[in-house]
Parts: sequence; C-alpha cells; structure tokens
Amino acid sequence: MLGAGTVGAAVMRLLHERADAIAARAGCRIDVVRVAVRDIGRERGMSLDPGVVTDDGESVVSDPDVDVVCELVGGMEPARSLILRALANGKPVVTANKELLANAGREIAAAADGAGVDLMFEAAVAGGIPLIRPLKESLAGEQIHRVLGIVNGTTNYILTQMSEHGWSFHEALAQAQRLGYAEADPTADVEGFDAAAKVAILASIAFDTEVAVGEVYREGIAGVTAQDIADAARLGYVVKLLAIAELEDGDVSVRVHPAMIPSAHPLASVRDAYNAVFVEGARIGQLMFYGQGAGGQPTATAVVGDLVYVARHLLHGGRGIGYAATLARRLRPMGDSRGQYYLNLHVEDRPGVLAEIAERFGHNAVSIERVWQEGSGDEATLVLITHRAQEGAFQKTVAELRELDGVRSVASLLRVEGEEG
Ligand SMILES: NC(=O)c1ccc[n+]([C@@H]2O[C@H](COP(=O)([O-])OP(=O)(O)OC[C@H]3O[C@@H](n4cnc5c(N)ncnc54)[C@H](OP(=O)(O)O)[C@@H]3O)[C@@H](O)[C@H]2O)c1
Repeated sequence: MLGAGTVGAAVMRLLHERADAIAARAGCRIDVVRVAVRDIGRERGMSLDPGVVTDDGESVVSDPDVDVVCELVGGMEPARSLILRALANGKPVVTANKELLANAGREIAAAADGAGVDLMFEAAVAGGIPLIRPLKESLAGEQIHRVLGIVNGTTNYILTQMSEHGWSFHEALAQAQRLGYAEADPTADVEGFDAAAKVAILASIAFDTEVAVGEVYREGIAGVTAQDIADAARLGYVVKLLAIAELEDGDVSVRVHPAMIPSAHPLASVRDAYNAVFVEGARIGQLMFYGQGAGGQPTATAVVGDLVYVARHLLHGGRGIGYAATLARRLRPMGDSRGQYYLNLHVEDRPGVLAEIAERFGHNAVSIERVWQEGSGDEATLVLITHRAQEGAFQKTVAELRELDGVRSVASLLRVEGEEG
C-alpha cells in the first residue's frame, strides 16, 4: 500500500473485515505486507505493525514480497515515479489517482504494457461506482457515442442547494465547506478541474484514444447565478455541472461546463453529492450508473474489486484490457462542437427589436427552437432556446447581440443538454 489516508485506510479495513469472502473470490488471501505513509507517527485509528509501515515508498515498490502495489497517495509525485518503478519491477498496480492518469496516462499505460502487467483504476472516476470496467469490458463490443455525467459531488451539492433554497453560489459554497463537502480551497472542484480529469479518462476509454486533461474544454460553476437556476426551473430544467465526452463524425469532443437539462432527464434527479454517468451506445441505447462518487468506504470497494481482479490474474495468468489508446482521433475544438443554448436578453420593448435579434441568429445560421417575451416595458426580457448549433456560431451571435441598440444586456446564457439527439 502506498498511502493510508481516507481511501487507503478504508481499503485496509475492508481487506481485514471481509478477508474470507475476498479470499474466496480472489482465490487467495490478500495481505497487506508493506504500507508507506508520509508521517509514520500520525494517529489513523488503526494499528499498523511497525515492521509493515514505512515512510519510504521506494522500499515498498521494490520489496520482493510485494505482489501488487496499491497507490493511494494521490497527486503527480511521488505517485508517478513509484508506480513506474513498481511496473518496471513487474508488479501490477491498482490506483485511484485521476490526476496522474489524466496527465500521464499514456506513460503509465505504456509502462504497464511493457511489463505485461495489469494497471487498474476503477476508483479514479466516480469513486464507488463501477464504471471503468463496464466501459472497458462489459461494453467492449459496443460503439459508445456519448458519455454524459455528473462526476463531481462537491459541485453537485452546491448546485442542489442553490436550486432547493434559492441560494447564491457563495452561500451554497459556504454551506458545503461547513459540512465538509467542499475543501477550504475549493478551486479544483468548483472550477471543474476534478471533473475534467475524470472525463479525460472516460473519453480515453470510451473512444479508445488518448485525451489529456489539458485538452478538455472547462468551465466551472462560480458564474452560475441564482437567476440562472430560477430561469431554468421555470422552464422545466435543472442546472448541473456536466462532464461530456462525445464522438462527432469520428472526432472526439470533451468538455466540462454547467448546463440546463430537462427535469425529466435521469441526471436531473441526481441530488447532493451523488454522482451519475449516462452512457449512450449505438446498440445498448442508454445506460445510467449512479451512486457515491467519493468517500473512503465506497471508493475502497472499487479498489478492492481491482485487487481481486489482479490477484486472479496472478494466480491463473492473463491480463485485463489496458488503457487501449489505439486510435488517433481528432479532438474537436470547442468552437466546432455542437450544442443547444438558452439565452435570456433584456431588451427594449419596441417594434422591430425581435426582427433585429432574429436577423443576427439567421445570419450566423443558428436556428431558434423557441422564443417568447416575458414582462413588458423596461422589464421586458426575451427568452430563447436554440436548436443544436455550432458553438462558435452561437458565441458570435451573442457577441453581435450585445452590440445591438435594442439589447440592453445578456442576463443569462446557458448550454442545454440532454434534449435533442
Ligand atoms: N477521498 C476520496 O473520496 C477519493 C475518491 C476517489 C478517489 N480518490 C483518490 O484516492 C487517492 C487518495 O486519496 P485520499 O483521499 O485517501 O488522500 P489522503 O487522505 O490525503 O491520503 C493520502 C495518503 O498518502 C500518504 N502520503 C502522502 N505523501 C506520501 C509520500 N510521499 N509517500 C508515502 N505516502 C504518502 C499520506 O500519508 P499520511 O497519512 O502520513 O499523511 C496519506 O496516508 C487520490 O488519488 C484521490 O484522488 C479519493
């Protein structure tokens, strides 16, 4: 074991508490023979044999008694070097490290391929929800064309509180921090970095290609207002931070951004810190994976599942499907991707304004699905929902609308997902 924190300690507890059942499934007992931590003296609510625990990760990955290395340290270094060393020593690796896989997945996968050993990472995306192996193995025969998910519990909790209490983003964030759902520095979650790492991994697996986290288009939720959420609710939508990976004419489009989804969509009912991932394939149709995307105990079940899988390979030979980045697909720039949009404009209530606005849409080949006016006089707002259109063309339309005399301001602008095919 590398790391004995929230997840590492839960893994050790699970291996101990369910040792017999796990042994029956693995075909052998899984014993923790070495544990590396940063601070040996730290109180961790479990007794660790002094002969087992060390602060020297290197000594774990090169110990001949260690058959499998379980990396639960997190971050890039020393996790990357220790995993590469373990693989070079012929030891299969189980990890929950999304950051490492999303940034250096190819390097680590190549090392596992070179060594001919398993690299398993079920826990890296959506914690306790089985997702990686279903995508890689159960759906190996399917052409997946879309993965749409809520993969960050913190932001889902914040958006749920905003929509259920009418709170601002900052009020909901403060509540999330009080209850331990958000960290003191919430940047990785609220700015969408965590979700971007996860969707990079999902896209790589779903589409057999390599997507690095830096290639993911990313917008967080800090700009979502109570007004956006109220507008969405009035129209029968909810606002969620979505991680989306799509195959569009053979190209891959990968993005994280807030979006309105119809309240009847299965993802709309995913509340609080829960995660859910919606997978669409040509033959399977639609699948949804739902559950606890984080937390020591749920995440530990995914890690132990991987350990059992690896143990069976060590006993009986064979190797699971690797990272499988076999196809060089083009990554579609955000401006070329297609989506549907909601726009709320404060407009002058006079004849001709609607025609000027419609002309800008038509000129940029963005067609309007629905449009209606709310209020009148100085309070008049024009609400529009487009058909699916090219992002770049839509953004150009919005820039032109801001210049029109008849448009006082763009009060709200949100992408719409989950409505049209
Ligand atoms: N927490 C979750 O809900 C969750 C869910 C899904 C995936 N994950 C992933 O699981 C991994 C672990 O997360 P966590 O929440 O368990 O983290 P954590 O509680 O911070 O634990 C990290 C562990 O790594 C040890 N460590 C740190 N630097 C080390 C070093 N240089 N050498 C050896 N050990 C070192 C720490 O030692 P000390 O104990 O001595 O400080 C600690 O035991 C991360 O990749 C994370 O993204 C976590």
